[in-house]
Amino acid sequence: MLSYRHAYHAGNHADVLKHFVLTECVEYYTRKDKPFVYLDTHAGAGFYSLQGDSAQKTQEYVDGIERLWSADDLPEALQPYVDLVREANRGKNQLKYYPGSPWFAMQGLRRNDKARLYELHSSDYPRLVENFKQDRRVTVENSDGFKGLNAQLPVVQKRAIVLIDPSYEIKADYDVVVKALKEGYKRMPGATFLLWYPVVERGRMNAVEKALKESDIRDVLLAELAVEPDTGARGMTASGMILINPPWTLKTTLQETLPWLAERLSQSDGANYRLEQLVAE
Ligand SMILES: C[S@@+](CC[C@H](N)C(=O)[O-])C[C@H]1O[C@@H](n2cnc3c(N)ncnc32)[C@H](O)[C@@H]1O
Repeated sequence: MLSYRHAYHAGNHADVLKHFVLTECVEYYTRKDKPFVYLDTHAGAGFYSLQGDSAQKTQEYVDGIERLWSADDLPEALQPYVDLVREANRGKNQLKYYPGSPWFAMQGLRRNDKARLYELHSSDYPRLVENFKQDRRVTVENSDGFKGLNAQLPVVQKRAIVLIDPSYEIKADYDVVVKALKEGYKRMPGATFLLWYPVVERGRMNAVEKALKESDIRDVLLAELAVEPDTGARGMTASGMILINPPWTLKTTLQETLPWLAERLSQSDGANYRLEQLVAE
């Protein structure tokens, strides 16, 4: 049974990094006048109230998006992402809502682009359906996103962005994501894959990185944001994105923004970031 609910974590430091990177990739794909498909294997509910019980219980957004919302020295590259969050709050001054990955992606998609969203949770799936029921570009599936990926790739449009964002509540997910990336890449080597990961136990992510370096996959970029140093204690200290075929502009954008993000989202002296080309083009 799935117990993870993203509503408790919406807008936290990990969402900031993930959704910033996602909006950059979507924007890049729209520069070319050819349709593309957005596949979100673990979509969540799509839109969250920060005033609801779940978000209020953890208040994770306070050390995440709220620190950017009120920043008067926001780097220019982060402005489009924060503007989208303002749009989700209908331009109001108070931060009350935070969108999920499908919502961020859909703001960039054009009339002929398509999205397919997967969500297994019995409570979040109907919310996801409700949030996108008016949008004919979107298909929502109540099924396993990993299986969906295999069924969808390669897409006929020949251009795709794939977001893989599991909760890692099942430890096997660390192996499953590597398998999914290898299989997805084999099916569609030109797609852009975005894998989100938490650093809870560093050893698990070291193994993922090693497996990807030893695979046939080319052009792999890693961007990680640590709000605290690694620890043996429970809890997520950092999170990151592993990208296959990232936009060529993204590395520079991240070089310009990650130091600011690490400083601004820091929760202790050990805040830091990593930006590494894991595998060359
Ligand atoms: C981290 S959350 C997704 C957050 C969302 N991508 C965002 O950024 O707003 C992970 C979601 O995946 C769902 N889930 C877990 N295993 C799944 C699977 N095999 N296929 C589809 N959804 C799954 C969970 O119910 C949860 O809502």
